[in-house]
Amino acid sequence: MNILAGQRVLLGITGSVAAYKGAELASRLTQAGALVDVILTAAAEKFISPLTFQSVTGRKAYTDADLWGGEGHVTHIGLGRAGELFIVAPASATTLARLANGLAENLLSVTALASHCPMIIVPAMDAGMYSHPATQQNVKILSERGALFVGPASGHLASGLVGVGRMEETPVIMGAARYIFGRNGTLSGKRLVITAGGTREAIDPVRTITNHSSGKQGYALAQAAIDQGADVVLITSSSLAVPYGCRVLSVDTAAQMHDAVMAEIKDAAGLIMAAAVADFRPVSSSPEKIKKEAGLPVIQLEPTADILKTVGEKRGSWPSLKCVVGFAAESEDLLTNARVKLHRKNLDMIVANDISSPDAGFSVDTNRVMLVQKDDSALSLPLMTKDEVAEEVIRHIAELLA
Ligand code: CTP
Repeated sequence: MNILAGQRVLLGITGSVAAYKGAELASRLTQAGALVDVILTAAAEKFISPLTFQSVTGRKAYTDADLWGGEGHVTHIGLGRAGELFIVAPASATTLARLANGLAENLLSVTALASHCPMIIVPAMDAGMYSHPATQQNVKILSERGALFVGPASGHLASGLVGVGRMEETPVIMGAARYIFGRNGTLSGKRLVITAGGTREAIDPVRTITNHSSGKQGYALAQAAIDQGADVVLITSSSLAVPYGCRVLSVDTAAQMHDAVMAEIKDAAGLIMAAAVADFRPVSSSPEKIKKEAGLPVIQLEPTADILKTVGEKRGSWPSLKCVVGFAAESEDLLTNARVKLHRKNLDMIVANDISSPDAGFSVDTNRVMLVQKDDSALSLPLMTKDEVAEEVIRHIAELLA
């Protein structure tokens, strides 16, 4: 279930050339199932029409005309009460000043006063205006009052200059919205360490031993855990888009992943090892590129540490660690191999993954998995997207941690 589905979102659009990005945001929120009520300031209407927003949300877009005419005095109270999240994107310097000072002379700011929901503010303005002490003071006041600031990003500005003031991109704002809605979820207050991607072991400065893991399943797990309010550390060798609110540690080798997991696991409630960790690495990696004139190289391998097995054996050392989950990528005897691994590594659950079928496993967006528990029970899930698999796995982990 998409965490944004059915949520009432107020989207304030203010006078900035980035107002067109607000239309993209309104569209993406609507596609995610949110009910989006857009409020434009008079300055926003100079950049973009309410009709654009009505067309993408399928709902009325409000302007200052609604404050002074029509339903008049109740519009802002009705909108303010109904909103479960208020996003102001783009937020101009003037609107920041209005919100910080509780001014209420347009529909957007009066609705903000009437609302009691969390607020995300996405500034967009010239770098000099953003760094001005007056704006910074307003940012501080609003942050202290609980608003979540997303951006501004650094980059090319409308003025032609480069600096900090660009409106943050839509996927990041969507991620922030998910983060807010997830805050009180089933994993709220629980720390999860999640690994993702395939490790790389150097043969020489050019070549590595690696595998086909894309990291998609691990990143999907991180997002699903954040949707349930978990505090997530993602230890990864991939460089996919990072879910909002997730702390990322980048690693290359199995040894680096081992060290990162051991450092992060200390106060974690759960570990999910979705990474495809190398089982072998070259005994030594050549400092110089191996040249073919030197003939066929003989690469001697040695085993890497089995991270999950080490954690399983030492579970008593981490009193807060209540749930350890592994993945088993198998091409034959899926259930038997998964059960053996679960017990050998002292896990609570293993996600068994049939990599022999073309629509499951590495690189593709879908997966066909079986959830095997400590009591040997096995739940076979149908073909699902990796996002859906992640939601199912996280739902089971939340039950184990409850
Ligand atoms: N794993 C690990 N450290 C390793 C190898 C694997 O922590 N050096 C973890 C993986 O992240 C996964 C689980 O162990 O969660 C099972 O990995 P898999 O490669 O399927 O099994 P192996 O134990 O490596 O056995 P084999 O490769 O022989 O199937």
